[in-house]
Amino acid sequence: MADIRTEIAGLKLENPTMLASGILGQTGESLLKIINEGGAGAVVTKSIGMEPREGHGSPCALELDGGLLNAMGLPNPGIDAFETELKIALKGDAPVIGSIFADTGEKFSILAGKMEEFGASAVELNLSCPHADKYGLDMGSDPEKVREIVGQVKNSVKIPVFAKLSPMVPDIGQIALAVQEAGGDGVVAINTIKAMKIEPELGMPVLKNKVGGISGPAIKPAGVRAVYEISGTVEIPVIGVGGINTGMDALEYIMAGASAVQIGSGVHYQGIDVFSKVNQEISEFMDRKNYSKLDEIIGMARKGI
Ligand SMILES: Cc1cc2nc3c(=O)[nH]c(=O)nc-3n(C[C@H](O)[C@H](O)[C@H](O)COP(=O)(O)O)c2cc1C
Repeated sequence: MADIRTEIAGLKLENPTMLASGILGQTGESLLKIINEGGAGAVVTKSIGMEPREGHGSPCALELDGGLLNAMGLPNPGIDAFETELKIALKGDAPVIGSIFADTGEKFSILAGKMEEFGASAVELNLSCPHADKYGLDMGSDPEKVREIVGQVKNSVKIPVFAKLSPMVPDIGQIALAVQEAGGDGVVAINTIKAMKIEPELGMPVLKNKVGGISGPAIKPAGVRAVYEISGTVEIPVIGVGGINTGMDALEYIMAGASAVQIGSGVHYQGIDVFSKVNQEISEFMDRKNYSKLDEIIGMARKGI
């Protein structure tokens, strides 16, 4: 069997699949289940902020033809209450990455420090939520702000710092470069893309927040393109996310340059078995093609082989 283990900024993963932030990531028990029963190589928590937050209210998510549309609005229990949940997730045998959001570098640093203190293996800075005003794209689309935030967080923790980016920028490579220059240890791409659904019978937007973000199969080509551009610009590892439901989907991201992938909506569509299924399909593909290690195919499409 092919060796599908991978490493990102010193984090050793038994396989390249991770749970993406926001899907079943708010309780310790669900994170643990995804590690123990789902077989994910790592899990990312729901994005956690300084204070408890309710989010946008219903309807906040719906299924469309090509994916899911959501405007959850970053509901979460706040960092202090999250300690208990994180400690439960840490009983599993896989890295737990703490996703955090804030509106200043200082607050990001406090949150990252707490995640480190609670035992998280790394932090993922959510710089890309498309439906939470000051907590998302305002910061993540400006290379200077990204540089400042990542730099501040790097100065306050020892665990690896990943930045999660949005594809809704003219040049995602430049944002990734700002992450690298500030000392960031990896880039995660992509978050959901701003979208909306209108119900003609009512003449109204369906989401309470009107605008949300689309995930799932519809965004996979945008995600693969983003990873391809990022990995052509920076040396730090890239984690690909967006529309992954099969091993072949994951392989597109890996060949575009991703060292690992995250799965979010795929858990909604297929349940937690999606991780072991995707891993199995990656292994079978590699065996069929006589690749023995994941390293051999990471970024393969860049080399034009
Ligand atoms: C219901 C829902 C909630 C999400 N919440 C978060 C979040 O809290 N933080 C974050 O960084 N991304 C969040 N995301 C984005 C996902 O982590 C992921 O980037 C995106 O959905 C694309 O991957 P997918 O197509 O596999 O779902 C959320 C996505 C969905 C569908």
